[in-house]
Amino acid sequence: MTQGPYRVDGRMARVWVSDAMAGLADRARRDLLASLRERTRCTVWNLTRRPRPDELRAALADQDAILCVLTDRIDAAAIEAGRSLRMISSVSVGVDHIDLEAATRRGIAVANTPGVLVETTAELTLGLLLSVTRRVVEADADVRGGRWTPEARWQISGYLGKDLAGSTLGLVGLGAIGQAVAARARAFGLRILGWSRSGREVSGVERASLAEVLAESDFVSLHLASTPETRQVIDASAFKQMKSGAILINTARGDLVDEEALVEALSSGHLSGAGLDVFAQEPIAPSHPLLSMPSVVLTPHIGSATAGTRLRMVELAVANLEAGLAGRPPLHCVNPEALAR
Ligand code: GLV
Repeated sequence: MTQGPYRVDGRMARVWVSDAMAGLADRARRDLLASLRERTRCTVWNLTRRPRPDELRAALADQDAILCVLTDRIDAAAIEAGRSLRMISSVSVGVDHIDLEAATRRGIAVANTPGVLVETTAELTLGLLLSVTRRVVEADADVRGGRWTPEARWQISGYLGKDLAGSTLGLVGLGAIGQAVAARARAFGLRILGWSRSGREVSGVERASLAEVLAESDFVSLHLASTPETRQVIDASAFKQMKSGAILINTARGDLVDEEALVEALSSGHLSGAGLDVFAQEPIAPSHPLLSMPSVVLTPHIGSATAGTRLRMVELAVANLEAGLAGRPPLHCVNPEALAR
């Protein structure tokens, strides 16, 4: 927080705040909102449900900037409705919920929160990998469900999983989160293969083609942004290239994977499991076939969900927003072309 109040055309800047801050501890939320309110005319969406598209369009009509989260669909119509918008600051690293082209065309800067969630997301990735390989969720359900009986006790062949040590982990995407996963995976004694679209070299990671990563890895973990080029990068043909018995982990974005093909690969036994934090459609439908598969561990898009990280994300998003309102480039602008307009 630097200066203010921020002014646009001689009046106080108007800012729409999604429920981005609702999950923060009360004190942090109060402080951040109070500070934003001193500098802007701030409207907070604080209903427990998400705004409908028409409500979002109406809410944005007279706003200069917005602080949004990844469940706010800031599509071309919403951007069009925000006639005086100059800044969209998202509390997320992914910006696939925002129509970047439409924003850039209008000269609206879009900012995100990379960096601060790297370790937290990497930790969940390893958590999912361990949960799937050691069948933690299935075993927990059996204990709670009374199936750990005196007769069943301890069995030599019960709950057999897979070792990480000596196995190969394939990373698809070697950005900050992929690299943080690699650092942790090394400590588990995994051999690590990695492919990145830019051909990046990362120490301790053997660079490989995507086909090699798929063919040689026991576990494949996805760390790509969702873009038109990466959508369904893991499709039926990719699953065929994967080793029999392989495990897929996805803490990036659901649309990187063809979910129908994933269900097929799991049902046929070609894949032995999956750990998924993200889905093609969120929330995933209760009738989705993945929900009935015990070899799949599912979490509800919680990659960055720790109290400390969520606070850091909101602080960074507010700093981005304030920089934009002050006429400075945001700390993390994903469409710098917009600033030139
Ligand atoms: C989480 O998925 C994020 O993009 O921050």
